[in-house]
Amino acid sequence: MKKAFVIGHPIKHSRSPLIHGSWIAEHGIDGSYEAIDVAPENLPAFMERLRAGEFVGGNVTIPHKEAVFAVCDSVDPLARTIGAVNTLVRLPDGRIHGFNTDYMGFLGNLDQNAPGWDGGAAPALVLGAGGAARAILVALQSRSIPIILLNRTRATADRLASELGGDIIIGALDEVNSAAPLAELVVNTTSIGMHGTRFEDFDLDVLRPETLVTDIVYVPLVTPLLADARARGLRTVDGLGMLLHQALPGFEAWFGVRPEVTPGLRAKVEATL
Ligand code: ATR
Repeated sequence: MKKAFVIGHPIKHSRSPLIHGSWIAEHGIDGSYEAIDVAPENLPAFMERLRAGEFVGGNVTIPHKEAVFAVCDSVDPLARTIGAVNTLVRLPDGRIHGFNTDYMGFLGNLDQNAPGWDGGAAPALVLGAGGAARAILVALQSRSIPIILLNRTRATADRLASELGGDIIIGALDEVNSAAPLAELVVNTTSIGMHGTRFEDFDLDVLRPETLVTDIVYVPLVTPLLADARARGLRTVDGLGMLLHQALPGFEAWFGVRPEVTPGLRAKVEATL
């Protein structure tokens, strides 16, 4: 039996076992996917279990996404750029390869729910320059989409843009109303939207009518930003699809089957939010 895992600390709220468990059942795979609580000091010992062949691979979540760099035998260059590994695969010779599927999740979500979203020439407006923004910026650059990056702390956005390279226009978050009319895509990567918080000064009336608004926050599923965008008739895509789509490449690598993100799977996961 092929065994896969998600490790984190804590781990009991992870939706990954539900997602992967559904695909294992659907495809009749002789496999399992379990959530394992691994405290930071136990990470090296856990990696030895993976090397020894107990598992085919798995996902890595907080707080291990950066620490696993040191224990992987090879790391995908894009995972290095993003600064985090979220998926591990045990190669047949026992070496451990790490990669990051968050940027693929972002792209897969928009490709499925807003086909053609990347067809225009207008820039994407990315709000926030923290850890989550890195995968989004890498994703947009992989589709050659120009980027405007705004952050509360402008210096953080400056640092991130110079690290990533390419054409990224930088600004402070309080410039959002002058930058927003230029964009065809708005992406929130900040934590604004969780716990009832909202963008107080972002006037969505300045957006072009064809603008797509997306949020990587998925609790709540409809953030105030998405609700305001919908109220103005703008297209929106919520963040749950990114969670579902980022799971695909790992599953395919471990079990050799490319599953699908179906409305049924989405409904199952949505019911747990
Ligand atoms: P994550 O890894 O989830 O991206 P993070 O690295 O802490 O978390 O980044 C949080 C992002 O949300 C940052 O861009 C942060 O802006 P600062 O760099 O100025 O801290 C942004 N953020 C968090 N709370 C915010 C708020 N109340 N208003 C504006 N931006 C906020």
